[in-house]
Order: sequence, then structure tokens, then C-alpha cells
Amino acid sequence: MTPYSFKRFRRLRGRPALRRMVQETTLSMTDLVYPLFVAQDARDAGPVKSMPGVARHALDGLEREIEQIAARRIPAVLLFGIPARKDDQGSGAWDPDGIVPAAVRRIKAARPDMAVIADVCLCEYTAHGHCGIIRDDRVDNDATLPLLARAAVAYARAGADVVAPSSMMDGQVATLRAALDDAGHYDTAILAYAVKYASALYGPFRDAAACAPKFGDRRSHQMDPANIREALAEAAADAAEGADMLMVKPAGAYLDVIARVREHVPQAPLVAYQVSGEYSMIKAAAANGWIDERRVVLETLTAIRRAGADVVISYFAKDVADYLVE
Ligand code: PBG
Ligand code: ZN
Repeated sequence: MTPYSFKRFRRLRGRPALRRMVQETTLSMTDLVYPLFVAQDARDAGPVKSMPGVARHALDGLEREIEQIAARRIPAVLLFGIPARKDDQGSGAWDPDGIVPAAVRRIKAARPDMAVIADVCLCEYTAHGHCGIIRDDRVDNDATLPLLARAAVAYARAGADVVAPSSMMDGQVATLRAALDDAGHYDTAILAYAVKYASALYGPFRDAAACAPKFGDRRSHQMDPANIREALAEAAADAAEGADMLMVKPAGAYLDVIARVREHVPQAPLVAYQVSGEYSMIKAAAANGWIDERRVVLETLTAIRRAGADVVISYFAKDVADYLVE
């Protein structure tokens, strides 16, 4: 006899079939985006040391990589270009024959059904490594906007389905929308990096994309990790400027932000980016035998979905697709 009546939660936990039946959050490869680094100079291709399992791809060989992603039924890639040369204006970002337009054309020629999202920023292309034009040692917001717009139009013209401004310049979404429409690209969507924190978790990415700032940091335009009300304002502003999808980045340490943005700005699909540092921390611990990589990957991605993300960008996307099939 039990002394008093109590709820026995384990009744629904005892069998896999029942557990699956009552599962509230699902993870599917169709909700994943795989980030892809493409190098203009084939000599820059190869493994990224701080991100085991991730590589910079040359244009030749891109088709093979895309086939592997498509075979796993991952619907989209997020493209980052590594130019052969950098300059103060980041001209490689908006060169119509630059690395991203070239990569988009090749991907679309090989797999027209693969959705291509092109990241729009200058930091991979500027010699100083900042996300915009530098004036008096500061990133000049308004001088940067037209260059971002030129890049977005070049990517749309090459066939990108979505452009994703990541530089955290104020007004970048409105500027891109106007420029895309002016050029007749009404149907090119904008995924706004609306809520992008000044995070130390981008470290390995800056190694992969060779875009660490040569002086200073990005705190004058990326968000303070201490803030959340500001995140809601950023998301609302980008939605009002015409963003078709909104992003929160990083993901794992910002689940509260994902949940709040989901509620506060319900009109746009929400994307979360599990960034390079999140990836590398899991990889490093797993390589040491300290955690079970597969279980941790599935757990972290499920948590990001549970918090409210519709779509997750992850360097684990291909692995997850394999796990889900097994
Ligand atoms: C460039 C950009 C960064 C990331 C995506 N786009 C780096 C940064 O802002 O310094 C980070 C992605 C990752 O860490 O995986 N603006
Ligand atoms: Zn940038």
C-alpha cells in the first residue's frame, strides 16, 4: 500500500514505444542547415584544425560535398567564402565573380534542389578582419550598408535562395531588402542574424574563415551576452525591416533567448546557430572519451529545438542525419 496517492511518471517512460509516442520535440534532418566553407584559392582548402571533421572546400570537389549533404536529405547549406585576396573594402565580398557567387553557381548547376543560403558580411574579405568599413578605428555602420547590399545582390544574381546578413550593422535588413527588390530579386529571402551576441564561442570559426579582427573586437555592434530585452527589440526591428527568418546565435547558451524571441516575434520562422565553439567543445570532450558524442549532439540539438527554434544550423548536421537514419 502506498501511503498516499502520487503521480507515477514512469508509467509512460518504461517502454520505448510509449516514450516515442509522447515525445514533445522532434529532430529531423529537414530542419537542419549545414555550414560550408568554400576557398577561392585551392591551396586554402583542407581540414580546419580547431574543428575536427570540418573542412574548407575548393570549388573543385564542391559537387561531391553537396551530393553527400543532399543524400542525407539536408535541405540547405549556409555558404561562407574564403577569398584569395583581402583588402580594406572587402571587395571580394561583392565581386560578382567572387568566391561565393562562383560557389552558388556550381552548387545550383549540380543540385538545383539544394537551398543555398549565402552569408553576407565583410569580415572574411577585409584585410583588417572587421565586419565593415573602418573609419577612425571604428566600424562605420552606414558606409558598410551599401557594400553589404552589393554583396547580397551579387549572391542573389548567382542564384542564392536566401541571403543572411551577419555583420550586425543597424539597418542591414532594410538595406538589403530595398537593394534586392531594386534589382528585381523580389523572391530572394532574407535570413537576418537578428540576435547575434559578441561571443567567445566564435573562436574556431575565425580560424576556419580566417576572419579574426586584427585589432579591437566586435563588441561595438554585436550584442552583450548579458542582455535579453535588447534581443527582443533586435528581432522585432529585423522583422519590421522585412526579414523572412530570424536567427539567434549562438544557440546552446542562449536557449532562454530563443524561447523569448519565439514568443515575442511569432511572425517569422526562427533559426538558431549552434556555432563553431559549441561544436569544438563537444568534439574535444568526445575525443578525450569524456562524453558520448552522439548522445550529446542529439541532446543539444533537441534542446535547441525544444527552446523554440524551427531550424538549426549545425556543423553536426551530416552526423545527425546519419544518426536519425540508423
Ligand atoms: C561573420 C560570422 C561569424 C560567424 C558567422 N558569421 C564570426 C564572427 O562574427 O566573428 C560565427 C559562426 C561560428 O562560430 O560558427 N560575421
Ligand atoms: Zn562579419
